[in-house]
Amino acid sequence: MQKHYYIKTYGCQMNVHESEKLAGMLKSLNYEETNDMANADVIVFNTCCIRDAAEQKVLGNIGATKKLKKLNPNLIIAVCGCMAQEKGRAELFKEKYPYVSIVFGTHNLHKFKEYLIEFQNKHQKIYNIWENEKEINEDVEMYRTSNNNAWVNIMYGCNNFCTYCIVPYVRGRERSRLLDDIVSEVKQLINDGYKYITLLGQNVNSYGNDFKDGTNFAKLLTTLAHLDGDFRIKFMTSHPKDLTEEVINVIANEKKLSKVIHLPVQSGSNKILKLMNRNYTVEHYKNLIKLIKSKVPNYFISTDIIVGFPHETEEDFMQTYKLVEDVNYGGVFAFMYSPRTGTVAEKMDEQVPQEIKNERVNKLLALSKKIIKEQNQQLVGKRMEALIEEKTEDGYLATLDCGKNVIITTTEKINLPTFKDVKITGINKNKLIATLCN
Ligand code: 5AD
Ligand code: SF4
Repeated sequence: MQKHYYIKTYGCQMNVHESEKLAGMLKSLNYEETNDMANADVIVFNTCCIRDAAEQKVLGNIGATKKLKKLNPNLIIAVCGCMAQEKGRAELFKEKYPYVSIVFGTHNLHKFKEYLIEFQNKHQKIYNIWENEKEINEDVEMYRTSNNNAWVNIMYGCNNFCTYCIVPYVRGRERSRLLDDIVSEVKQLINDGYKYITLLGQNVNSYGNDFKDGTNFAKLLTTLAHLDGDFRIKFMTSHPKDLTEEVINVIANEKKLSKVIHLPVQSGSNKILKLMNRNYTVEHYKNLIKLIKSKVPNYFISTDIIVGFPHETEEDFMQTYKLVEDVNYGGVFAFMYSPRTGTVAEKMDEQVPQEIKNERVNKLLALSKKIIKEQNQQLVGKRMEALIEEKTEDGYLATLDCGKNVIITTTEKINLPTFKDVKITGINKNKLIATLCN
């Protein structure tokens, strides 16, 4: 009888891609995907621990599988990802969630297939968290799930230790993949017909630093942008302390590079940036924005912001608010600070009360919504490139470089997917409408 798997993914694109690797391993063992947890033979929780809310959600969802396990004692429940890698978590699963059969971390994700086979043979629970990262494992099956977009890891881990962040503790130190390995993977993806290739790293701008041979992110981007084929390269996340003018020039000049730059500022106050250990000032950040705006055509800048970091006063927050207004971001991901066990900020005094965090995050989100609405209005009349992806009743659905959807009304026959220039003609119920350009 056909066996099924169900993977629940929490958190960032890195996790989405790692779930594609988990799915690849399950497929190679002849499991098929199901959207119904109750129909699954294997359930995998690929977890996130970046904020407490994410962790509570994971624990709630795992708890809910207890009754499924009662109905089907052969059900295998596995937990992996950042939260599993966190200190003390494997023990928690052992004690409080005894119906979980396999627990593994971020460093041994590629071992999932082995663990699954071992569990099926021996029926002994597996709790295996590798303390340290070993070398990068290139030999992982993948089952890609993001339509025309393919994710590609270019590096793993993070060296920055921003004082609020748990990522360096659960994902280890920075390791870059070899340039040749990345190029081979991207070439294959282009051959397979993927149109967007999104490079993933916690801090893509420090790509290659560990090789100490001059390989850097600018070189990687240039190499990829010169490959043959009809594709665009995207990348995330950039760190303001490491984004160089060299990289900005490459983005500006290479047609096959996306003009979307996700540049998390976190705060508009120098006092808070220092407490966060971000290693740049607001002035440095503003200079980068100026450089991007002056050099990159059709740029789209987005950011992450944390409100309510310890010691953040109303004045600090208003500096952030003002920065968001000034930069005029295309997208703002605003988060309430969440203390993480083992980080430096967790021990800082003057934590900000929850209701103030709520108030600040709502203010920023309202501002961002207003800015985005204005920006959408300004797109009307503009000519831009879009990836035409899907046929609809009266035309096509397409995606702009920045990820916004556009509806194209035309009777023309188009081979999908393909890049074409479109002209934005209007907005209907928050949706951009466009026509094809000749
Ligand atoms: N609390 C709130 N937000 C956080 N982020 C990282 N750690 C925390 C935390 N402890 C946010 C940052 C980062 C994004 C991925 O998540 O803004 O850029
Ligand atoms: Fe966390 Fe800072 Fe590393 Fe980003 S750069 S993953 S926020 S420590």
